[in-house]
Amino acid sequence: MTSEIFNQFLRELHTIYNGLDSSEKETKRHILSVRNTLSSLIEIPLPATDKKPELKPVCRYLERAINTGRTGPFSTLCETLIQVSPYLGWEYGYETIPDHLYDSYAYTEIAGPKGSVYSENIASGLVLLAPGCHYPEHSHPDIEESYLCVSGSVTQNNNDVVTAGDILYNPPGYLHSLSVDAAGACLLAYSWNAPAEILRNNSMKFD
Ligand SMILES: [Fe+2]
Repeated sequence: MTSEIFNQFLRELHTIYNGLDSSEKETKRHILSVRNTLSSLIEIPLPATDKKPELKPVCRYLERAINTGRTGPFSTLCETLIQVSPYLGWEYGYETIPDHLYDSYAYTEIAGPKGSVYSENIASGLVLLAPGCHYPEHSHPDIEESYLCVSGSVTQNNNDVVTAGDILYNPPGYLHSLSVDAAGACLLAYSWNAPAEILRNNSMKFD
C-alpha cells in the first residue's frame, strides 16, 4: 500500500527531528515545533491523496543520491526513500523558472496541502539538485523552513556549507540561494512550518 510507505517516511522524519538539537535558539524552537507537528501527524496513518507519480529530468540523479545517502547519517531514511521513490510526484512549484533549472531541480511534497498524503499543518518533502545547480535567491514569507541534508552537500548564500546530517534553518522571509558543486547531486528533505491558511495558499516565486 503506497500510503503505508508515505507514512513510513513521516515516521523516519519524526525520528530524525527527535534526535536533532541546535545551539541556535530559533533553530531549536523550529526543531521542537516540527517534531511536535510530526508527532501528531504520525499518530494515525494518513491516507494517500490522488497525487500521481511524476518524474522531472533531475530525477536521473535520484537513485545515486539515495544510494550515497545510505552510507550517511540518514541511512534509515534513505532505505525508506528507495521504496517511496517510484510513487513520488516531482514538480517545479513555480509558474516560470530559469531555463537552467528545468533539468537541474525539482521538489516533491510528500505531506502537505498538495502532498502525497494530506496535512494542513506542515509541508514536508524532498528537493533534488543536480551537480553544479544554482537555485536562485528566493524567500518564503510567513513560512519557516528547514532543510535536512540527506545526501551530498550544498552551499547556502555562498556562505553556509551543509553536508549530509546537517540542518539548515531559514526564518520566514529570509532570502536564500543554494549552490551545489560539480562533484555530485544534493538531496534535501525540507519541512515548512506555518499556519494552515498560509501553507494552503502559498505560491512560490523567485525574488
Ligand atoms: Fe527555500
